Amino acid sequence: MNHFQYKGNELFAEDVSLKEIVARVGSPVYVYSHATLTRHFKAFDEAFAGAPHTICYSVKANSTQSVLKTFINLGGGVDIVSGGELYRALKAGADPKKVVYSGVGKKDDEIEYALNTGILMFNVESEQELTRISEIASRMGKTAGIAIRVNPDVDPGTHPYITTGLKNAKFGITIDRAMEEYVRAKSLPGIDVIGIDMHIGSQLTKVNPFVDSIEKLKVMIGKLRSQGIDLQYFDCGGGLGIQYNAEEPPLPADYGKEIVAATKDLGMHLVFEPGRNLVGNAGILVAKTLYTKARDEKNFIMIDAGMNDLARPALYDSYHGVQAVTRDQDGMIVADIVGPICESGDFLVKGREVPMFKQGDLVAFLSAGAYGFAMSSSYNSRPRVAEVMVKGDKFEVVRERETVEDLIKGEKVASFL
Ligand code: LLP
Repeated sequence: MNHFQYKGNELFAEDVSLKEIVARVGSPVYVYSHATLTRHFKAFDEAFAGAPHTICYSVKANSTQSVLKTFINLGGGVDIVSGGELYRALKAGADPKKVVYSGVGKKDDEIEYALNTGILMFNVESEQELTRISEIASRMGKTAGIAIRVNPDVDPGTHPYITTGLKNAKFGITIDRAMEEYVRAKSLPGIDVIGIDMHIGSQLTKVNPFVDSIEKLKVMIGKLRSQGIDLQYFDCGGGLGIQYNAEEPPLPADYGKEIVAATKDLGMHLVFEPGRNLVGNAGILVAKTLYTKARDEKNFIMIDAGMNDLARPALYDSYHGVQAVTRDQDGMIVADIVGPICESGDFLVKGREVPMFKQGDLVAFLSAGAYGFAMSSSYNSRPRVAEVMVKGDKFEVVRERETVEDLIKGEKVASFL
């Protein structure tokens, strides 16, 4: 069930008209559907009903506290990559025992914070990081649960910028080095070796690369067992893709079936770090048409949202569906939909057939719930936009629109000026 549907000519989020949201909150605005978030979480969870598992939602995809709280209420944990994400997640009520901490550049203070919080495990991404965690934990008189993020050298077949599991990527420890590191980890003070981790990339539209990676890690798990290193947690990472346009990603149920089959004889507790799959199609960005202009063969639609609000098209040439919030345009037009930022890369749509938007028309950009607001910035001194969550016929602002005062918060003009 799609919760962003037309009723007559008006686009709704669940039972709330987007026009009404903009009338109250202004534009641009991100709008999330609580029912969609819930359905996506449950579908993912149910896909693993047959196996002990924890779904650690990957905070980076959308770190808004109301989104985190929605998943936490459903029993979810979190996958974090910074002290900031840990702070957000704890504020939203996350259970520290369901927190996994990934990332290649964990800083000392972040490691200390995570140890004080008592998170489940650190997904260790380098030899030096392992040593550092051991030193810090020993000094603090704590024990750090760890998994090694093993880089299985499998091609996920996705955009190069979001491919992480090939051996020349900066992520994880290569499969041939990981064995030695496990043995070393076992002997280090302050370290409790509890798991193994992988994350091979994002927006995967096939299950095979996941299964191929799992098979490689299984060989390692077997060898480790024979050396007396028995791991409890198998963190399969995130990466399951969604439909933006014509992609046909596997359903969570199909992904689940194959992963459960590939892991069931291990008797391990599975951890997943889905981000996009849970939030991507649960959010849209609504913007307003400011101006239109035609130049030779080219048509431009200038809107009040730009690459600072939704960076994905500029960064990855990504596709976001476009719909009119009120369907009253005089037909379709091939156009670029561009933002107010002074860069040619500032487009949300390039040369695509879209409704013939006119001044004042509201435009909805679909599939914007993942890596949308989370990657937004205030470049060109544009305050970051508001975020709204809808539940049934209710909606609330879950993040206020920034003000120009917010833009200079913390700034100070040097005293020698
Ligand atoms: N776990 C780790 C260690 C990750 O690095 C990521 C994403 C995830 C889980 C969640 O992956 P997902 O389920 O969302 O695919 N900004 C890009 C995507 C970057 C993904 C970064 N890592 C985009 O907008 O497409």
